[in-house]
Amino acid sequence: MQNDIITLIPVIVMGKRYEVPHGLTIMKALEYAGYQLTRGCGCRGGVCGACATIYRKKGQYRLQVGLACQTVVEADIYILQLPFFPANKALYEINTTIPDDLNIIKLYPELLRCMGCNTCTNSCPMELEVMNYISAAIAGNYETVVELSMECVACGLCAARCPAELAPFNIALLIRRMVGKHLIQPSPQLAQRLEEIKAGKYEKELHGLKNTAPGEIEKKYKELQATKGASV
Ligand code: FES
Repeated sequence: MQNDIITLIPVIVMGKRYEVPHGLTIMKALEYAGYQLTRGCGCRGGVCGACATIYRKKGQYRLQVGLACQTVVEADIYILQLPFFPANKALYEINTTIPDDLNIIKLYPELLRCMGCNTCTNSCPMELEVMNYISAAIAGNYETVVELSMECVACGLCAARCPAELAPFNIALLIRRMVGKHLIQPSPQLAQRLEEIKAGKYEKELHGLKNTAPGEIEKKYKELQATKGASV
């Protein structure tokens, strides 16, 4: 027989105490407590970086950070959502901003304040090597920055903890844009596909998709995934 008993645990959301079922993520606990998330909530799958959260577990002096959609609550956890961190974000015209040390230091002079403490790496919910890509940025190894930061979700938690007040995620974003715009050779396949789109090659297919019921699209998607899985 199924056991339907739900264990409730206390959580403290922005100073207010609620009882929520054990095993929920912070995001689901917030919603269970009655919060309607219009900010700080996006993909719900650990991809968009919208749900940065600060929390402290019972009995621990250390503040921790994580994504609300990926972090599970514990009894007596203190939670504070951080849907936006006011990090420095440089303004630039990417077409004329070429990747060189002068441009990067001019846009983000605080880069030189990095003291190599590794706090950024420890606070990254995606477990990226943030300090290593910042070191690569200082050394001018831009391809390494791209490689190490590609999965950044721009949640801002690295900036929230950096004692030198860098915004590593924004610095990496600038470098990825510069490299993409100025260093990587344009892909001939992409150019060809764009031409095909312009010529209307996919119009019929797109039109068909737009007029398909959501349930039918879901079914097709699952069939496609199953075919892909079977061919791996
Ligand atoms: S909601 Fe997108 S990462 Fe959490």
